[in-house]
Amino acid sequence: MILVTGGAGFIGANFVLDWLAQCDEPVVNLDKLTYAGNLANLASLDGDPRHVFVRGDIGDGELLARLLAEHRPRAIVNFAAESHVDRSIHGPGAFIETNIVGTWRLLDAARAYHASLDESSREAFRFLHVSTDEVYGSLEASDPPFAESNQYQPNSPYSASKAASDHLVRAWHHTFGLPVLTTNCSNNYGPYQFPEKLIPLVIHNALAGKPLPIYGDGSNVRDWLYVGDHCAAIRRVLECGRLGETYNIGGCNEMSNLEVVHTVCDLLDRHAPRASGGSYREQITFVRDRPGHDRRYAIDARKIAGELGWQPAETFASGIEKTVRWYLDHAGWVENVTSGAYREWAQANYADRKG
Ligand code: NAD
Ligand code: DAU
Repeated sequence: MILVTGGAGFIGANFVLDWLAQCDEPVVNLDKLTYAGNLANLASLDGDPRHVFVRGDIGDGELLARLLAEHRPRAIVNFAAESHVDRSIHGPGAFIETNIVGTWRLLDAARAYHASLDESSREAFRFLHVSTDEVYGSLEASDPPFAESNQYQPNSPYSASKAASDHLVRAWHHTFGLPVLTTNCSNNYGPYQFPEKLIPLVIHNALAGKPLPIYGDGSNVRDWLYVGDHCAAIRRVLECGRLGETYNIGGCNEMSNLEVVHTVCDLLDRHAPRASGGSYREQITFVRDRPGHDRRYAIDARKIAGELGWQPAETFASGIEKTVRWYLDHAGWVENVTSGAYREWAQANYADRKG
C-alpha cells in the first residue's frame, strides 16, 4: 500500500481517485482537513476497503510513526501543504508550520521507518514530494521556460516555504540516503479545486453574478495543466523516476490570466447563458495587483517526457471544457465549500482591492 498526505485536497483527492480507479493497491490517506481539505471529494470511496482515511497532521511525529508501523507502505506521496499564494501573504505562519516544519517531521518519520525495513523493502521504498514551479521565481517574456537546473528564486511566502521543503527533501537524500523524488509542477485546474484559485473562483463568481477580479492588468502568464495529467505524471515518477532527481511537470500551455478568464466566460456563455443576456465577460473587473505578483511561469518538461515518456493527454481546450462542465454539474459541492469561512476569506482578500 501507499501513504498519501493531503489526499482530501484538490490534487491529492484527484490522485487518490485516479489511483484506485487504475489499481487495487490500497491507500492510507493522512489529511488534517484544513479549510482546503474536504471529505466530500472522496465520497465515491465511502465503504471502499482500499481507502483508509486518517485525520491528522504531517507535523505529528507520533502519529506518523504509528501509521507507518501499522500500514507498512512501500511509498509516501506528500501533497499536504498550505497552497494559496494570497493566503500566504495574509498569514505566512501556517505555511512555515506545514510546508517546512511538517515536511521535516514527515521526512524524519520516513527516515526512521525506512531504516527499519528489510533490505528488499528498503530498496523498493520511495518518498515522493509534490512541489511547485513557483520555487524558480518569475520569468520575463523572453526567458526560456524553467528547467530542473534553474536556480531557486522563490518570491512569495508560499513559494519560499515550498522551496525550503524541497531543500529538506534533497538533504534527507544526500545526508541520510532516503530514497526521494521531487516533482515541480505548473498551475493545475480541474474538478474539486477550491474556489479561492483563479479558475474555480471565476466560474463561481460568474454564476453568482459577482465581479470577476483580475489582478493588475491580467497579463501575468501561467502554464496550465489538467489535474489528471499531473496525477499521471506523479504515478510515472513514482514507478520509474531516478532517485534523488527532480522532475518538472507542465502543460506546455502558457496563457495570460485574461485569456484564461475569457475562455471560461465563453464556455459559460455556451453552457449556462446569463438570464439577463450578454456575456459573462461583462463581469470582469480589474483590481489591485497581488503584492510581488510573479510575472510568468513556464515549464520545460523535456526531462520527464524524454526519460519517463510522460506527456499531457488533455489540451487546454478539452481540459477546461470538462472542468467548466464539472462545476456546472456539481453546484452542491461548490455550495458546501463556499459557505461559512470561505466568505470571510473572500471578504478579507478582495475588500481592499477595489479596481
Ligand atoms: P490544497 O490546498 O487543495 O490541498 C492541500 C491539502 O493538504 C488539504 O486537503 C489540506 O487539508 C491538507 N493539509 C494541509 N496542511 C496539512 C497538514 N499539516 N497535515 C496534513 N494535511 C494537511 O492543495 P493542492 O492544490 O491540492 O496542492 C497539493 C500539493 O501540490 C501542494 O503541495 C502544492 O504545493 C502542490 N502544487 C499545487 C499546484 C496547483 O496548481 N494547485 C501546482 C503545483 C504543485
Ligand atoms: O504554479 C503552481 C502554483 O499555481 C501552485 O504551486 C499553487 O499552489 C497554486 O495556487 C497556483 O498558484 P497561482 O498563484 O499561480 O494560482 P492562483 O489561482 O491563485 O492565481 C493564478 C493567476 O491568477 C495569478 O497570476 C494570480 C491571478 N488571480 C488570482 C486570483 C485568485 C487573479 O487575477 N485574480 C484572482 O482573484
